[in-house]
Parts: sequence; structure tokens; C-alpha cells
Amino acid sequence: MPDFVRLHEVGPRDGLQNEAGLIPVADKVALIDLLSQSGLRNIEVGSFVSPKWVPQMADTNRVLAALTPRDGVRYAVLVPNMRGWQGFAEARIAGVAYDVAVFISASEGFSQNNLNCSIADSISRLAPVVQAAEAAGVGLRGYVSCVTDCPFDGPVPPDAVARAVAGLRRLAPMPISLGDTIGKGTPERMTAMLKAVMQEVPVEMLAGHYHDTGGQALSNIAASLALGVRAFDSAVGGLGGCPYAPGAPGNVATEAVLEMLHDAGYETGVDPAVIARAATLAGAMR
Ligand code: HMG
Ligand code: MG
Repeated sequence: MPDFVRLHEVGPRDGLQNEAGLIPVADKVALIDLLSQSGLRNIEVGSFVSPKWVPQMADTNRVLAALTPRDGVRYAVLVPNMRGWQGFAEARIAGVAYDVAVFISASEGFSQNNLNCSIADSISRLAPVVQAAEAAGVGLRGYVSCVTDCPFDGPVPPDAVARAVAGLRRLAPMPISLGDTIGKGTPERMTAMLKAVMQEVPVEMLAGHYHDTGGQALSNIAASLALGVRAFDSAVGGLGGCPYAPGAPGNVATEAVLEMLHDAGYETGVDPAVIARAATLAGAMR
């Protein structure tokens, strides 16, 4: 039986959060609805963060209200604090499968610049969010950013990543997505980082979230596959970046990841023809 690899589509969130011009809700929803028809099981559709920090995501409540939920698809949103949880709780639609994604950094510099607090404080601030999600039966996903390099602190040691992952997982045994936020990782450094993290977390709970700034994302995925990682984040059309990570444009493109995985014999359940149409649609929004 072929190995199954799960793709988590982050284009509508990680991609569009970084666009300079405001994108109409109807365009975001058209993209999400098309992606929902591709066979993807996980689509990240927005963020309940401060609109002063990320104006492009300020309409996530309207996106949730307007999208057409599809059975078998889980819709993820980023939530940084209880204010964000409340925004999500008011916006969610009964009967739709959601995941709340909480996020921290493995480096202090990025934590301060992205969340305005230390790593330890960011984890404490997330404790009530995690409790609220668990009490409401909402799924959880954890992000750890800067798993090889930080735009402010430079190289990040593997044991710092393992510590951050362990800190987040002390809140709840959630799956963790490992962010190469500025796309500087190499297969060798990714391998060292993953080996350290796998001391703390079973590999089945890990996903790779690799920005392609340095053109290394596909090689980093190959290195992660070799260690048993079977979940990756990608963005249709290579949309992406992070407004608080200078030099972070471009999540690895979903269509490129699919081609690589299918050529290597992995199964994803995702139809490349639908993703190609979505990539065209995404390109027209930029
Ligand atoms: P802060 O300024 O320290 O927070 O920001 P605060 O509690 O002092 O609040 C300041 C103001 O923001 C207040 O409003 C709050 O009400 C408001 P004011 O009184 O000034 O009018 N506020 C909010 N409004 C709406 N929703 C909220 C919310 N919280 C506070 N949830 C905060 C702290 C976390 C809010 C801020 O730093 C923030 O929003 N950061 C978000 C940054 C972000 O979204 N970054 C991009 C996503 S992460 C990423 O892309 C990396 C990833 O892809 C993985 C990878 O690639 O590595 C996941
Ligand atoms: Mg990212």
C-alpha cells in the first residue's frame, strides 16, 4: 500500500496575510471553496489576530460565514490569545469541523516581533485558549516558528526547538507544525532539528512548514520524509510569507509538493488538476 502524506493548505492564511492590497472576502471564499473540492482535508482559512498587526486577516469572521463547508474538510484558524478565541467562538458555524492553530517561536527575537512577548509568556497566554478549545471539542494544532533560523537572532539550535515544542505540548498533546519561517533551512540542519524534536514528540504528530525563500523547501521535505514525517504545509501558487519575518515570502507551492510526492509514489488524495485551477485563481489575486 502506498504511503499516505497529508497536506495542510495554508495559502488562504499564510499566503494572503502577506499581500499588500486588501483582498475581498468573496475572492478569498472562492479560493477556499475551490481548494475544498481538491481532496485536501485541511485548509487554513484565516486568523483571529489583532487587525492592527495583520489587517489582511481582519475579515476572517466574514470568511467563515461565507465559505461552503465541505464534509471531510477541517478548516483551521490562527488564534493568539483569548480575545482571538472569543472572535472565533462568535464566528464559527455549528456542524463545521475546525482546528484552532496556536503559535509560538523557538527564538526570542521572533517571539517579541510576532507576538510582542517572550516564548514563556506566549505559552502561558495560550493555556486558556487550549482549555477553551478542548472544552468546546475544537481541534488543536501548534506551530513553532524559526526552527532553523530567526530573522532577528540568527541560527536557532535544535535543542531550543525541542524545548519550545515540549513547552507547547505540555498544554495539550497537539500535533506540531515546524516552521522554517524564513526559508533558510538546509536538509542537514532540518535533519538535526527533527532528530532533536523527535526525542520529545512522536513523528506522527509532526508536520513540516517550509517557506521556500532559499529554494530548499522541496529538499527539506525530502529530508523530512526520510525521517518518517508524513505531513506538510504548503500554499497554493506558492503564496506566502509572514509580515513580521522580513524576507519570508513564499510558502512552498502545493502544486510542486504534490508533483514531488506523486512522482515518488506517495498518495495524498489531492487532485493536481483542481490545485492547478486554484493556483491560477490565487495568482490573479496578487
Ligand atoms: P499586543 O499589542 O501585545 O496585545 O499584541 P494587547 O493584548 O496589548 O492588545 C493590543 C490591541 O490589540 C488591543 O486593542 C487589543 O484589543 C487588540 P486596542 O485596545 O489597542 O484597540 N487585540 C486583538 N484584536 C483582535 N484580535 C485579537 C486581539 N488581541 C489583541 N486576537 C497580539 C499581541 C498577539 C494580539 C499581536 O501580537 C498579534 O496579533 N500578533 C499576530 C501576529 C501574526 O498574526 N503573525 C502572523 C502569523 S504567524 C506566522 O505566519 C508563522 C507561521 O506561518 C509559521 C511559520 O512560518 O513559522 C504560523
Ligand atoms: Mg508560515
